[in-house]
This record gives sequence, C-alpha cells and structure tokens, in this order.
Amino acid sequence: MIYAKIAGTGSYLPGEPVTNDDLVRRGVDTSDEWIRSRTGICARHFAPSGSKSSELALFAARRAIEAAGCAADDIDLIIVATSTPDFIFPSTATLVQAGLGIQNNGAAFDVQAVCCGFVYALATAEKFIRSGSHRRALVIGAEVFSSILDWSDRGTCVLFGDGAGAVVLEASDKPGIRAVALHADGRHHRELWVPGTVAGGQVMGDPFLRMQGQAVFKFAVKVLDEVAQEVVSLANVPQESIDWLVPHQANIRIIQSSAKRLGLPMEKVVTTVGFHGNTSAASIPLALDCAVRDGRIRAGQRLVLEGIGGGFAWGAALVDF
Ligand code: ACO
Repeated sequence: MIYAKIAGTGSYLPGEPVTNDDLVRRGVDTSDEWIRSRTGICARHFAPSGSKSSELALFAARRAIEAAGCAADDIDLIIVATSTPDFIFPSTATLVQAGLGIQNNGAAFDVQAVCCGFVYALATAEKFIRSGSHRRALVIGAEVFSSILDWSDRGTCVLFGDGAGAVVLEASDKPGIRAVALHADGRHHRELWVPGTVAGGQVMGDPFLRMQGQAVFKFAVKVLDEVAQEVVSLANVPQESIDWLVPHQANIRIIQSSAKRLGLPMEKVVTTVGFHGNTSAASIPLALDCAVRDGRIRAGQRLVLEGIGGGFAWGAALVDF
C-alpha cells in the first residue's frame, strides 16, 4: 500500500507586520477594535507592490525541501494553489519549477479553489502519489491577495494578507493522509468573487475582491463543521484521536465554531489569523509550518486540515503527520 506522507513544511511572510492601527493611518475608515472583535485579526503582511506569488512560493518551497531533506530535483510534481497567479499563463507552478532549477521534466500545474486551494492541491497530489505515478510532490499555497483588494472597501480590505506555505508530500509505506473530502457548490459564486477578466487588451468587469460577509460566514460555519466530521468518519478513527485542527484562517469566530464541533479545546487549534490575516490558499500551510517549527505539531500526531473559499469550494484532510 502506498501512502502520501508530509515529509517537510515551509512558509514565508513578506515584509513587516501591518497592524490594524497602521491601516487606519493609511486611510482605511476602520478601527483596531472593530477588526479585532469581529475577526480576531491584529496584523497581516503585505508584499511590496509588484511582487509575484511565485516569488513568495519559492521562499516557502525551499524551506519545505530543506525540512524534507531532499533535493529539488527529487520533486516530480509541483502543484501551486493560488488565486493571484503571476500571469494568466503559464502556471505559477512552472515558474516555481524553473526558480528551483528543476530539470527533471516532472509535472507542474496550478489549482484554483481560492481559500480552499491548498486542501484541493493536497488532495490532488495525494492521488498522484497513491497511484504510483509520482513519488514526491511539492504542494504550495501562495498569494499576493493585496493585489486584488479595494482599499476603499473597508468590509474586505482589512481581512486579507499575503504569504506562502508549502509541504513536501512523498510516497511512504506508513500513513500519511488517511482521508480527504472535497466539495463545491457553484450556485454561491457571486457571494465571494473577483468578477473581472482580461480581454481585448483590457480589464473587463471588476478586478477587486467582492464579498457578502454574512452569507460567507453562515455558509462557512455550516460546511466546515460537516466536512471535518466527514474526514474523521472516512478515516474511521476516533474523534478523540485528533491532536490538532489546522483550519483555514479567515475569522477566529468561524475557527472557534469548528473546534467546538470537533470537541477540541482552542489549545489544540492552530490559529495564526491574528497575525497573518486571511492569506487565502496560503493560510493552512502557513499555520501548519508555524506549529511544526515552534514544536507544537510533532511526528506521529493526527491533524485535521480544513478550508473553504469562493465558489463555494470546501474540503478537509485527515493527516497522520
Ligand atoms: N471597520 C469598521 N466598520 C466596518 C468595517 C470595518 N473594517 N467593515 C464594515 N463595517 C461596518 C459596516 O459598514 C456596517 O456599518 P452599518 O451598520 O453602519 O451599515 C457594520 O460595520 C456591520 O457590517 P457587516 O458587514 O454587517 O459586519 P459583520 O458583523 O457581518 O462583519 C465580517 C463583517 C467580519 C466580514 C463578517 O461578516 C465575516 O467575518 N464574514 C466571514 C467572511 C470571511 O471571513 N471572509 C473571508 C474570505 S472567505 C473565506 O476565507 C472563507
């Protein structure tokens, strides 16, 4: 039996933290109290203007490869989850492959599932590895979300940040990823979207993130509860055996609800939303890497990763680390 196992993690945050008060100083009509009480966010990081997701991804990827103790050329599959790709094409994954100097002609492609992109990418890589077609995958979530924020829309611009997180996933005879569940319901696509595109040499439509916050909140709480239970049941493990919940970092209140439903105290939940904001596809691998590097998450522990993003698309993975 071939399993897919996480062999190393890495992450990267650009620049210095930008606090809620910094946003007020930059002219956003908000307050530290409003943001903190509704979302748990105190600060986030923004990449310098003009930065590319592949640049952030490369920093995270190099750290994950180093942690896995392999060489870049041992990677035969790269999947990048991003909603802020460098270009319309080629994929950001191919740019990461080139940046790492990989010359083995392995596969490289992007996955688009917004804030659930990392879970979708991890699930995809897991299937490649379990099939035996690939041995070692680099799975990355990377975003320059600041590039799609409307700074005059205080209901959205205070929520997000930039960053990247990565894992090396490799074939193993020990589990590994024990279960994944992916879902989507495209009827909700107008509740969280960037309704623009490029055509005829121009931006057509609106190039900024738009969101119906309360609708997203209600939907997220419901489906994250369900999908976390689903992977526990698919993996056929006791709920009490979960050591850590590593959720998408959108809002502390959504995270608290998920933890409660899984019967986990907040001490067993990795939360980085306070200092990263919502980094979309990067948020789960960023949180995972933080908790691995500070020693909370250790080899042999059992994790639930879960996320939801625009579409809506949502999913979870149950992972023996
Ligand atoms: N600062 C101060 N006031 C603000 C701000 C702000 N940044 N943003 C909105 N307000 C005001 C509004 O104008 C409104 O004022 P009014 O009553 O005078 O009209 C008031 O605050 C309430 O606005 P609501 O939008 O109803 O605020 P709500 O309590 O719903 O909180 C929030 C908004 C935090 C976005 C919440 O709906 C939420 O967390 N939703 C989840 C969405 C989410 O997390 N999205 C992330 C992307 S999706 C994902 O990753 C899953």
